[in-house]
Amino acid sequence: GATVASGEPAYPGYGATEAEPACGVKEEAAVPVPERREEFDGGRILDISHYYREDMPAFESAEGTPGFLRLARSMRNGSDIANFSELRLTAHSGTHVDAPGHVFEHYYDAGFDVDTLDLAVLNGPALLVDVPRDRNITADVMESLHIPKGVRRVLFRTLNTDRKLIWKKEFDSSYVGFMEDGAQWLIDNTDIQLVGVDYLSVGAYDECIPAHLVFLDKRVRV
Ligand SMILES: *[C@@H]1O[C@H](CO)[C@@H](O)[C@H](O)[C@H]1NC(C)=O
Ligand SMILES: *[C@@H]1O[C@H](CO)[C@@H](O)[C@H](O)[C@H]1NC(C)=O
Ligand SMILES: *[C@@H]1O[C@H](CO)[C@@H](O)[C@H](O)[C@H]1NC(C)=O
Repeated sequence: GATVASGEPAYPGYGATEAEPACGVKEEAAVPVPERREEFDGGRILDISHYYREDMPAFESAEGTPGFLRLARSMRNGSDIANFSELRLTAHSGTHVDAPGHVFEHYYDAGFDVDTLDLAVLNGPALLVDVPRDRNITADVMESLHIPKGVRRVLFRTLNTDRKLIWKKEFDSSYVGFMEDGAQWLIDNTDIQLVGVDYLSVGAYDECIPAHLVFLDKRVRV
């Protein structure tokens, strides 16, 4: 059996949900093929997180995420009890959420870690919006999107997806993200509490920290 992607998905990897036998031949597989993603109730809940890979890009790294996983105890090599895998990677790897303590020491000291984030904000319907491909997310761009009042969760699809940046091992600082004024416009003019972007940082590289400070000062989740 093989897991095959049907067609050319907008997001490579997300199409790989249908298990189909290779070349149309049904195989007698003793071990089922694992599915990486699950769809519940006809697709109402989708896990869009990326799975961790050795060549998953990491912020300001050319190396990806090498050696993040090892089998610390293996049944094939001495352990007759179980297999234990060991993960070694930063909490800011791959698909992640920023805690307010990420950029504010007072929040860090007060314990505003990811486990203090509101699950009701983190989960639920989200609006997916395409942003202009020729600019970073500025106040002008935000205004032009006409995101309705009341929308609490927005995923911003950008040029990063077209460029398949998350599939490239080497970090690319030319990714699209929020400029400080775009972040401020969002805070001042929308009801958005959860912001999702399609690369490693919500802030464009040149205004990375200023954009984070605007979002996380009000503890909007990014
Ligand atoms: C344990 O790990 C070995 C590799 O050392 C693998 O072949 C085997 O399938 C694993 N067993 C289980 C129960 O996952
Ligand atoms: C198996 O275990 C031995 C002894 O602990 C170790 O030296 C060896 O590197 C292990 N082999 C693998 C493939 O993990
Ligand atoms: C977005 O900003 C980065 C610098 O932070 C820049 O390299 C990139 O060219 C900009 N992208 C667009 C589409 O203007």
